[in-house]
Amino acid sequence: MHDRIRHSGLLEKRMSPEAAAALIKPGMTVAMSGFTGAGYPKAVPQALAAQVETATAAGTDFKIRILTGASTAPELDGVLAKAGGMELRLPYMSDPALRKRINDGEIEYMDIHLSHVAQHTWFGFYGDINVAIIEVVGIREDGSLIPSSSVGNNKTWLDMADAVIIEVNSQQSAGLEGMHDVYYGTALPPFRQPIMLTEPEDRIGQPYLDVDINKIIAVVETDAPDRLSAFAEPDATSNQIADHLLDFLDGEIKSGRMTDKLLPLQSGVGNIANAVLAGLSRGGYRGLKAYTEVIQDGMLGLIKDGTIEFASATSFSLSEAGIAEFNRHVDFYRSRIVLRTQEISNHPELIRRLGCVALNGMIEADIYGNVNSTNVVGSHVMNGIGGSGDFARNGFLSVFMSPSVAKEGRISGIVPFASHVDHTEHDTMLLITERGFADLRGLSPKQRARLITEKLAHPDYKPMLEDYFTRALRDSYGKHTPHLMGEALSWHQRYIETGDMRL
Ligand code: COA
Repeated sequence: MHDRIRHSGLLEKRMSPEAAAALIKPGMTVAMSGFTGAGYPKAVPQALAAQVETATAAGTDFKIRILTGASTAPELDGVLAKAGGMELRLPYMSDPALRKRINDGEIEYMDIHLSHVAQHTWFGFYGDINVAIIEVVGIREDGSLIPSSSVGNNKTWLDMADAVIIEVNSQQSAGLEGMHDVYYGTALPPFRQPIMLTEPEDRIGQPYLDVDINKIIAVVETDAPDRLSAFAEPDATSNQIADHLLDFLDGEIKSGRMTDKLLPLQSGVGNIANAVLAGLSRGGYRGLKAYTEVIQDGMLGLIKDGTIEFASATSFSLSEAGIAEFNRHVDFYRSRIVLRTQEISNHPELIRRLGCVALNGMIEADIYGNVNSTNVVGSHVMNGIGGSGDFARNGFLSVFMSPSVAKEGRISGIVPFASHVDHTEHDTMLLITERGFADLRGLSPKQRARLITEKLAHPDYKPMLEDYFTRALRDSYGKHTPHLMGEALSWHQRYIETGDMRL
């Protein structure tokens, strides 16, 4: 392990996870590493959860505010949520125990565009950061840190926190060293400068994280892998969605809007995005680039088979098999992947300059193209908006994909009015279900409604949508975006009452 901690002063600061966790007090704001289940601290949060449980059993309230890069894993979000130790959590999350507590109304959750989190912290919107807990691969002789399997907001957390706890994880491949590009050129307005990145592979920063070693109050040694669940195998539905995307992209190439190198791809989280990405290998493309947020198994496969030549991201999000594949061929992947801070991987200036093709999953879309990525039946949060808004608003193309129905057909993915809107009709260009794709570019709301219903809706729901639109055209208050206000959300209400939008 000592080859992982090469700074003698910091060797002296080693302590147990329990001793490090004891430095965290109720009411603190604690910023942690971790992004889509990668590079999160694994020992201190568990020790902290045990302390919360002991305090709670003794009748003392012990809650902290937790900021991360994005989702983490059961060893962080899961244990702290179950222990009742979270007052507030931001941003993206996906842990089932945390999701339950949030939806039970016990934890305040702030769902924020992932590119915004660092700058909002610098703006002072979230108050002081008392402690940062950051997982790293190692500590160098000069005290700088070798980042782990995600970078996320770690630069900001290390810069802004009053005190820092470092977890050095010997399970993370030493081969990660050199893969990162940490940009130190950000500033507060009005002193901001252009970010000089024009290609996904450009390096504009340094491979290591800087930290004021005087702020480090504990170094904890760990030896546990990132814990990620396997993705669902691509099924007929996700393969059909991938095929529709391939058809659409072929049309774009034929029309001359893109070359066969496409434009840098962004691929969102979840089973559908992962399967669609894997499906791209059927397109016969070679030498594509990705400027994205996470490297999922599907992306790793595309890099391996040469479909993608280079990928820029902020994090891995790999299954156990994906981690094994990465570790076996780390030298191959290190020359083809760079991991950046999430304020750069998701930066609007860069996404717009590069012209990213944003490919994200959705929960539902309405007939006018408003997209709900986050809230089932308008109120039950699933994961969060993640980076989908960063890419959809600023990309060359914004694509949202979903099966046309969920829950064995009891829910339609295409509804009269989205029950929660993350991406407005102004930000959505292409919607895809297994039924087909709807290219919304250049269409007015009424034209969109007809196309979305015709191309995307499941046969069980298509006549219902046609009926709604016909009556809305006739009876709505205005004829620009025809809606029946008393009925627009009735499908969701029906689901709450009957368990089926059709009944
Ligand atoms: N109503 C109710 N539940 C729905 C639904 C709907 N309209 N659409 C999907 N779901 C449920 C599915 O049934 C499934 O539930 P389960 O976990 O109980 O099986 C779950 O949502 C996931 O759906 P799935 O079809 O497997 O898609 P996915 O894994 O691709 O996830 C999102 C879809 C929308 C949840 C996911 O893409 C997401 O979190 N997006 C927001 C963040 C984002 O886009 N980030 C991108 C930048 S990295």
